[in-house]
Amino acid sequence: MASRSFVAVALLAVLFIGAAQAATRAPPPRKPSSYSSLEDLVSKRKDLSIAKFIASQMPEWFLDMYDNFNGTIAVPTDAAFEMYVDIWGGLEAFKDLPDRYLAYLMLYHTTFDLTAYSKDIKGVNHVETGLPGYKITVAKTSQGVAVASPHTIARVIEADVKVGKGVAHIVDRVLIPFEPATAEYNFSPYASLGDVIKAVGANSVYTAMAESEEGQAILDSTELVGTFALPTEEAFTAFVEEVKKTNVSGPALEYAVNMILGDHLNLARAFDSETIASVKEAPVGWNVTAYGTPEGHFFNVVANTTGLYLQGFTSAKVVLPDLPVGEGKFLIHVVDEVLISKQTAKALGL
Ligand SMILES: *[C@@H]1O[C@H](CO)[C@@H](O)[C@H](O)[C@H]1NC(C)=O
Ligand SMILES: *[C@@H]1O[C@H](CO)[C@@H](O)[C@H](O)[C@H]1NC(C)=O
Ligand SMILES: *[C@@H]1O[C@H](CO)[C@@H](O)[C@H](O)[C@H]1NC(C)=O
Ligand SMILES: *[C@@H]1O[C@H](CO)[C@@H](O)[C@H](O)[C@H]1NC(C)=O
Repeated sequence: MASRSFVAVALLAVLFIGAAQAATRAPPPRKPSSYSSLEDLVSKRKDLSIAKFIASQMPEWFLDMYDNFNGTIAVPTDAAFEMYVDIWGGLEAFKDLPDRYLAYLMLYHTTFDLTAYSKDIKGVNHVETGLPGYKITVAKTSQGVAVASPHTIARVIEADVKVGKGVAHIVDRVLIPFEPATAEYNFSPYASLGDVIKAVGANSVYTAMAESEEGQAILDSTELVGTFALPTEEAFTAFVEEVKKTNVSGPALEYAVNMILGDHLNLARAFDSETIASVKEAPVGWNVTAYGTPEGHFFNVVANTTGLYLQGFTSAKVVLPDLPVGEGKFLIHVVDEVLISKQTAKALGL
């Protein structure tokens, strides 16, 4: 096993990054407002000028689908687009993309046959979008409503804006449909585990992993096959606070953190959430040959009407499942707690 020299410094860094993140990602709610149409919304709002540009590029027949709109649309702000357009080499390059791609993007932010106000959203939902065959995941979280595409997790920063008979939710990230982008545009900005972890905003986990050679190799690899349960930024920083209180430091802390990170990893197979829900035990750990053996670490799996849970010494709920890395040979499931298996707890004397 490679260097375990991450930790102490990383954990300190993590605390500050976590605190900064928490502060910047919780915008105050604004009052809901009402517009006669999508065109009316994007024309009247100064912070939606890039969405307005996209609509202006669309042919009449296409925009007709948004007349008397009674569905739901996620509208990214200009700030959200500004982050996204870097991938294309800036705003001007983005605006020069074929209109067909801009149409895909717009459809991917739309569901035509469902008017979903935030009060209607419960639990985790896989929602068909207007782009045939492409789904988004919509989840109610303690931080409000989150919308996940394979490459981004957007937060609804202003919910329930009436648009004609339908509803718009203003979001802080552009939702990126995976296949149209890669297949037709040779576009793979999140080819590695580390890219996805950063895109999801789990900077503290990234920092902790990047402190070891072994961790950094996993973050950077584009060839990995496996599964990672990724704790939310909030869960990880809260956990780090608890660890600090124990005053454990030096090699003992390095060993513990490495083992605990291992409890989030399966390095043998990309388990999608459906497969996990169908097994009793999910094997984890750095040591692939130990999976399924008496020495192996694992979590019990519970799947019921409220969701999918992993249970060990600590337990977590899967809050955003099935985020693929690259072409999906590696899958990430965002979980709401740091996971410690019973075997790790025993080894650490917890
Ligand atoms: C929404 O619009 C579609 C197509 O225009 C229509 O078929 C459907 O009945 C409408 N639903 C509601 C609730 O108005
Ligand atoms: C950790 O150290 C602090 C300061 O030295 C002390 O107050 C606290 O009781 C210690 N905690 C544990 C769990 O030993
Ligand atoms: C990995 O697990 C196998 C099977 O339990 C064991 O024989 C081997 O020693 C372990 N390797 C390491 C590096 O711990
Ligand atoms: C589903 O399982 C979880 C974890 O064991 C539990 O907390 C939750 O209450 C269960 N939900 C139902 C509806 O049984």
